[in-house]
Amino acid sequence: MAGTDIAIDLGTSTVKIYVEKKGIVLIEPAVLAVDIATDRIIALGEEAYKMIGRTSERTAVIRPMSNGVISDFGLAQEFIRYYLKKLHSSRVFMPRVVVSIPCSITEVEKRAVVDAISSTGVRKICLIEEPVAAAMGAGVDISKPHGSLVVDIGGGTTDMAVISLSDIAISSSMQVAGRTFDDMIVKYIRRKYNLLIGERMAEEAKIAIGCVYPQKETRVFRAKGRNALTGLPQWADITSDEMLEAMIEPAMQIVRRIQETLESTPPELMADVYEDGIILTGGSAHLAGFDTLISKKTKISVRVAEEPENCVANGAGKAIRYIDDMENKEYGVLNPLSAVY
Ligand SMILES: Nc1ncnc2c1ncn2[C@@H]1O[C@H](COP(=O)(O)OP(=O)(O)OP(=O)(O)O)[C@@H](O)[C@H]1O
Ligand SMILES: [Mg+2]
Repeated sequence: MAGTDIAIDLGTSTVKIYVEKKGIVLIEPAVLAVDIATDRIIALGEEAYKMIGRTSERTAVIRPMSNGVISDFGLAQEFIRYYLKKLHSSRVFMPRVVVSIPCSITEVEKRAVVDAISSTGVRKICLIEEPVAAAMGAGVDISKPHGSLVVDIGGGTTDMAVISLSDIAISSSMQVAGRTFDDMIVKYIRRKYNLLIGERMAEEAKIAIGCVYPQKETRVFRAKGRNALTGLPQWADITSDEMLEAMIEPAMQIVRRIQETLESTPPELMADVYEDGIILTGGSAHLAGFDTLISKKTKISVRVAEEPENCVANGAGKAIRYIDDMENKEYGVLNPLSAVY
């Protein structure tokens, strides 16, 4: 029996697993809770995410995939193994896996991803570069000799690339993304209100009322935490205008990187990008006003992909059908997969 192939998006914030013919079947925060004394894993995924900021001194909540690469190999391996096993137990046999990787990672980092997954009993691992997967997931036909600029703004990294003929013409990656916005909100609220809030509260506020371009309506969110001086519980009503103030700097860093990428794009592809506009993917593409901000600054139209947070996983899933070509080494075929192990 051939079995069912799967695709994995090992994101810094969330891990998504796509099963052939089914689509995305699993979305879990890329978080583990560990007992410091015994090194034992106490919780994974959603359960561990809920423990952020609520742990005792004995437990640590760890993100094994920080900044787009595996930062804690052992824990990343445990994490992947746990969820693949869960799929196994639901009778999905997965001989082959497509994994998305940031295009800026080193051979050693690539190897770490491959090793972590192969240790879970997978027969074949194919790699796809994240912007290529994001473009495919956003519905771009990357087999055409036509350039598209895709910007994936995730949790830990923002990756952007001009893609044409299943290949990356130019790409750039930076560690400014969703978590940077959360950090900026924490700092802003502390500075302005002497109020200490956790990263989960900051993310909640960002999702509820965050924006990076002035909005018609001012919205309010009650941020709860404790006073930085007295340590007592405290809250503050934060407005969307304040969120803009807190987040505009990192948002502009991303805009500037897009401008630089455009400046180094070959002229023919640049004309294509002008014509089609920029495509935004990744969870942070949901941030209100990001499309307007980028469009105003670059003078190019911007489209937020449908379900932007799922584009990479859906694109990697679409690339499953190229595994056979890759295995048969038909190099004449334009292939979005970049390597096979
Ligand atoms: N509605 C929303 N508004 C603003 N930000 C959002 C919204 N929904 C999700 N996010 C942010 O999107 C980020 C997660 O996006 P995504 O799932 O694309 O990241 P990832 O793939 O895990 O990370 P990376 O690609 O950087 O490794 C988080 O920082 C989250 O706070
Ligand atoms: Mg991602």
